[in-house]
Amino acid sequence: MSATWNAGVIGCGSIAQAMHMPGYVGTRGVRLAAACDPDPARREEVRRFGADLRLYDDYRRMLAAEKLDVVSVCSPNRFHAAHAVAALNAGAHVLLEKPAALSLTEIADIRAAVRRSRRKLIVGFSHRFQSGNLKARELIRRGAIGRPYMIRVRFAHTGPYPGWAKNDWFYKPALAGGGAMLDMGIHAIDQCLWMLGPVRRVQAMSRTLRKRIRVDDNALMLLEFADGRALGYVDVGWTSPAGFNGLEIMGDEGMILIDYAAGMRLTTGKITPDLKTRPKLKTRLIDPTPTRGGWTVEVAECVKSFRRGDDRGLGIDAGGAALAVALAAYESSRTGKAVKVRPVR
Ligand SMILES: NC(=O)c1ccc[n+]([C@@H]2O[C@H](COP(=O)([O-])OP(=O)(O)OC[C@H]3O[C@@H](n4cnc5c(N)ncnc54)[C@H](O)[C@@H]3O)[C@@H](O)[C@H]2O)c1
Repeated sequence: MSATWNAGVIGCGSIAQAMHMPGYVGTRGVRLAAACDPDPARREEVRRFGADLRLYDDYRRMLAAEKLDVVSVCSPNRFHAAHAVAALNAGAHVLLEKPAALSLTEIADIRAAVRRSRRKLIVGFSHRFQSGNLKARELIRRGAIGRPYMIRVRFAHTGPYPGWAKNDWFYKPALAGGGAMLDMGIHAIDQCLWMLGPVRRVQAMSRTLRKRIRVDDNALMLLEFADGRALGYVDVGWTSPAGFNGLEIMGDEGMILIDYAAGMRLTTGKITPDLKTRPKLKTRLIDPTPTRGGWTVEVAECVKSFRRGDDRGLGIDAGGAALAVALAAYESSRTGKAVKVRPVR
């Protein structure tokens, strides 16, 4: 691979225009060389990212004509696996939008393509690039809150369309593969797995409460971690402003609150009182803007990792682990029963 890398983008919609394309344009040593989208309006919109940008109406034509070092997959969920495998087979490293795929068979196909191609793939779990979440994970690992036993995550907004996505594909089961529980839930699940480790069982309810759409617009998930000593609670929605967006993690010796809008606080001390002594707790603001980073650094960080030959622990196994929990959650919601998470390998 040459010193200057050629980047390509599959799918020129909102996340491509908000993050991937500006990310490549702003990353030193990378040229945004090509992009593809079947919709001519999208191709017209992205001309602003470079006079030399070559545009295609089909990803196969783009991958055959170009020599790309790195490719972002920003298409609707249904196409993620096929697009990621094709880009890997064409010799590119891949930054794959979430969810990584829609089934564990597709995850296995992507894993095989990563192995065969000897390229790296990173799943775009953007919340992992935020300063507050990175700090929380480091604090947990350092033992700053003792043994974590509970995590709560809420991610919500008024819905991807209208307002964000270029059309209403997010609401079409065949293209999206799920609703809010998949779209927002997969970020939340990844945070839970990243902070506290593997999950063995899920109970969930996903419902279409407010929008006239054929996928869920609100969902609750209860997670039981594999060591049997921690629980998780995830709450996602597409039908109102968030109110609270963020995470809360409780441990024996402290707790972390990451309110995406109001800041990150660390409370230390024995947070669960015993029967004799009153708890002595100290709370301090440790990051007033915990959403720093995220989309603004994701592409450059991923390119850095690809150049080092590393997937940041965000490879297809991370994408598969999060998807396995989401699929168990949908099964739980359908059956009304707690569902064991299937191993992904
Ligand atoms: N990481 C994040 O925080 C984040 C945020 C938003 C979206 N996403 C993910 O990004 C992906 C795209 O979402 P979006 O919000 O940009 O949607 P969007 O509707 O704005 O864009 C999707 C684009 O894909 C194009 N497309 C459709 N079929 C295609 C095909 N076969 N080949 C190439 N392009 C095709 C569409 O024409 C459209 O331009 C989704 O998987 C979504 O989950 C991630």
